Amino acid sequence: MRAVDLIQKKRDGQVLSSNEIQWLVEGYVAGTVPDYQMSAFAMAVYFKGMTTREISDLTMNMVKTGQEFDLSAINGVKVDKHSTGGVGDKVTLILAPLVASFDVPVAKMSGRGLGHTGGTIDKLESIKGFQVERSQDDFIKQVQDIGVSVIGQSDQLVKADKLLYALRDVTATVDTISLIASSVMSKKIAAGADAILLDVTVGEGAFMKTVDEARELAQTMVSLGKAVGRKTVAVITDMSQPLGRAIGNRLEILEAIDILQGKGREDISHFICELAKIMLSLANVEKTIEEVKQHLENGQALKKFEEMILAQGGDLEDLYRPVKVDHVVEILAKEDGIIEALPAMEFGLFAMRLGAGRAVKTDALDYETGIVFEKKVGDSVKKGETVAKVYANGKISPELVTDFQKYVKIKISDKVIKTREIIEIIS
Ligand code: URA
Repeated sequence: MRAVDLIQKKRDGQVLSSNEIQWLVEGYVAGTVPDYQMSAFAMAVYFKGMTTREISDLTMNMVKTGQEFDLSAINGVKVDKHSTGGVGDKVTLILAPLVASFDVPVAKMSGRGLGHTGGTIDKLESIKGFQVERSQDDFIKQVQDIGVSVIGQSDQLVKADKLLYALRDVTATVDTISLIASSVMSKKIAAGADAILLDVTVGEGAFMKTVDEARELAQTMVSLGKAVGRKTVAVITDMSQPLGRAIGNRLEILEAIDILQGKGREDISHFICELAKIMLSLANVEKTIEEVKQHLENGQALKKFEEMILAQGGDLEDLYRPVKVDHVVEILAKEDGIIEALPAMEFGLFAMRLGAGRAVKTDALDYETGIVFEKKVGDSVKKGETVAKVYANGKISPELVTDFQKYVKIKISDKVIKTREIIEIIS
């Protein structure tokens, strides 16, 4: 077989056989199919797509390129969760201990942020001492002992995705359904959980810009999960504005603590409780939203979170420390009205420039910087009221932050706007 023939076949809209896909994935990981040919293949897939069978072959061959985790030593139904990427997405920080507080084990591997999107692992690493690298044995033991662990994705997991995702990132081939579905599901399948909740984000700050595209991605991933015997549910969620109040690593940890103390904004707290209810149900534990919320209000979820921080070497005093920055600049409303839009992508990219995110994989992060919103879409504001606060350090001058207001338009209107975080559930 020759890679050039497979690229040509896909370029011309033909369907690849199972053997051809296996050959390509194996060759790519072995280094006999070079990056330039794999890039051309990814671009051909971007334009021509893949059939369900091709996506399934790609996914399962990718799974085989790394270690498959065996979580069978942990009692009970192990549930995993994955988001296709967002701005201000601190959901895992709250959801994992919340679900574990109902004695449902959560053994989760998370990723780092890139571009406008943040990553759970970076947020956890902003807590002094917290360790994200654990051996499989330590990871399993912690879940057996306290019911929850969130660690960085093992280097051994789905090697093909590690290579291919980095390549897609620099060849404009990330935002395509077949490649996202195989990337996400290969990792979820290899990570070994019995059940999977997928958070498929849609909107300005997400890879999927329309609900129709998000639905297709969600359905594709749910079918892939079910085909290998994993209970899989997807929720389509809004990412047109940042999620919750904060963007930025420590700022999001502090918001997560607020939510875990039952003091979060009602919209995000409710959203996380809805996700927890679905995850619990996947593990055959049926609870009402009110019962789930109780664990935020009575401190049980927070207790689990603290146990996890301690078990992974984190410093509890540092956990509650406020951020330290040189400047806090307020973004004020220019007129009375209702907030109509807070563009997630622009705010995500701005937070990245503040140092809260990475333009390229090797960039160092400033854990302290970011943005906190006092107002969200649908909230009413008066002229001169604070819409958001920008937390900046050294290199970014307060003047530059003020300029921000000029190019990110916070639309203020007189419409009544209803927001909803979960748009659709697909099972
Ligand atoms: N998240 C992933 O893990 N892979 C993708 O391709 C896109 C989002």
